[in-house]
Order: sequence, then C-alpha cells, then structure tokens
Amino acid sequence: MILVTGGAGYIGSHTIKELLRDGREVVALDNLSAGHRELVLCREFVHGDLADGDLLRHTFRRYPIEAVIHFAAHTSVPESVADPGKYYRNNVGCTLTLVEAMVEAGVRTIVFSSSAAVYGDPVKIPIPEDHPTDPKNPYGRTKLVVEGILRDYAVAHGLRHVSLRYFNAAGSDPDGEIGECHDPETHLIPIVLEVALGVRREVQIFGTDYDTPDGTAIRDYIHVTDLARAHVLALRAVEEGRAEAAYNLGTGRGHTVREVVECCRRVTGREIPAVDAPRRPGDPAALVADPSRAERDLGWEPRFTALDPIVETAWKWMTRRSRPNPGSPR
Ligand code: UFG
Repeated sequence: MILVTGGAGYIGSHTIKELLRDGREVVALDNLSAGHRELVLCREFVHGDLADGDLLRHTFRRYPIEAVIHFAAHTSVPESVADPGKYYRNNVGCTLTLVEAMVEAGVRTIVFSSSAAVYGDPVKIPIPEDHPTDPKNPYGRTKLVVEGILRDYAVAHGLRHVSLRYFNAAGSDPDGEIGECHDPETHLIPIVLEVALGVRREVQIFGTDYDTPDGTAIRDYIHVTDLARAHVLALRAVEEGRAEAAYNLGTGRGHTVREVVECCRRVTGREIPAVDAPRRPGDPAALVADPSRAERDLGWEPRFTALDPIVETAWKWMTRRSRPNPGSPR
C-alpha cells in the first residue's frame, strides 16, 4: 500500500488516480487545509496533520504501507516570502516528522514533490538536473532542504528516495473527474480561464519587458496527468533501486504569458481582456526543463506536448465546476 500525503491536493489527487489505474492500493492523508476531500478517489483516507507524529505512527501501524509519496506542503511563493516560518515549519519540519516515523516503522521508500523553484534564476535554458541550485525564495529553499534531508537519511538509514522537480503543473484530469481548485488562485492558466468564465474582469500580465520574444515570461507547462504518471514510474524505479536523486518534470517547451492568454482565447472562444502590469517580484524570465533524464531512466514522456489540449482539460473542469450541480465525484 502507498501512503500519499497531501492526497486531497491538486497533484496528489491526480497521482492517486494514476496509482489506482496502475493497480496500487492507496491510503491518502491530508489535513484538508488546502485540499478537497471530494477529489480523493481512493477509499482509505486519514484526516490529519503531518505535524502529528502519533497519528503518523498509528497510520504506519494500521496500514501495510511500503512506500510514501509526499506532496503535503504549502505552495505559495509570495506567502513564503511574507511568512517563512510557516513554510519552514510545515514543509521542512513536518517532512522531518514524516521521515522519522517512516524510519521507525521500517518504511524506507519515498517519492518527494520538489520544484523547479530549487534552481532560482537559470544560468542556462533548458535546465538540466545538475544545473546550480540557488532558490530565490523560502518556498524553493524548503524544497531544497528536504532534498538534502532525504540524501542524509539515505546514508544514515538506507532511505530510498527520489525528488521530482516540477515545472508548471497545468490542466486537469482529461476525464473531468478531478481537477485544480486553489483558493485563492494564483496560477496563470486558471486565472485566465476565470476571466473567460466571467468570474474575473481581466488578467494582468506581470511583466512585459523581459528579454523574451514578446517581452513576457516563459514557463514550461506540464499536464498534471503526465506529472501523476511520472510519480508511478519514479516509484517503481526507486523501489527497484535504479532511480537518481532528482528528475525534472517538464515538456522541454516554453510558452510566454501572452501565448497562454492567446491559447485560452482559442480554446474558450471568449474574448478575455488582458492588461499589462509590472513584473511580479521574484519571477525568473524563463523556466524550461531539460526532461531527458526522466525520459531515459523512467521511460517517461509527456503525452500532452502542446498547450491547447492542456488548456482544454482545464477548461472542461472549470466549466463543469461552475455549473450549479457539477455532479458528485466517484
Ligand atoms: N502570471 C501573470 N498573471 C497572473 C498570474 C501569473 O502574468 O495573473 C505570470 C507569472 O508572472 C509567471 C507566469 O504567469 O510569469 C506563470 O505564473 P504561475 O503563478 O502560474 O506559476 P509560477 O511560474 O510563478 O510558479 C510555479 C509554481 C510554483 C513554483 C514556481 C517555480 O506554481 O509552485 O513555478 O518553479 F515555485
């Protein structure tokens, strides 16, 4: 059985769906501070906090857990700048409680949800895994600290681990069963689609003077189901002792903010007013993955390689959710 922490969140819930599809048994753990119970498709659910060591010990005794996929974390970059303590306590402190409980219970396999934020401002594009790591904010630093903790626990306690560095997770389950629900929403694609839905008046384009073809920032948008599948493959690789410490998960293709807005106009057929705005502090001009290590070692290749189909899945989910009776999840 696989324990998925943060299983009620955006990427966690999609990964649970892929694990179930792969025939794995799953128990989700989530404190529901940002997650949604109705997104959890597995039967076993523990409502609780990773800070609670007793709960973790009890969970490891109660279920035959062989491995952990660890998503639970705070994820807002600006919030991490304003309140770093909250991020170090939760993202680092709770992970330490988790790995201690794992070692105590003899569970020695972990897949960790890391981020491209560990790289900071890239010195080259696309970014390979051996690119220097120099996070620009506390959020990115918490992810890098945890990567280090896992390496140290590997030496001291034989912990088998892999860190997956996500670029920009986007889109929703193509079946429309689960999807992205952040409150407040800060990510570009759902914000642009909220304008299309009429929930927001306009989208602000943060920065139009970057050194990019149209002056707006470039990101590598990777479909959440492709990310989810990478976790299943990485879990297998780490179980078989053939995983490297870290893998980039991205498509290797970058899109500017203006291209994203144009794509959303195409997909929705709606106007979507956009206004130029100053740069958002801390934003790098371009982040694009070199995903060749994951392709080579994990046999992983993104199925969603173009932006339109990614945005189509996000739009399908958002239009479904915005109806009065969107139907109940399985
Ligand atoms: N953007 C806008 N307007 C908006 C929202 C975003 O122009 O209303 C721009 C941002 O400035 C950025 C791009 O759209 O240039 C993408 O922004 P997102 O907020 O969607 O994503 P980020 O690239 O900032 O953040 C993502 C993850 C973080 C992670 C970070 C670095 O969400 O968790 O990548 O890897 F830390």
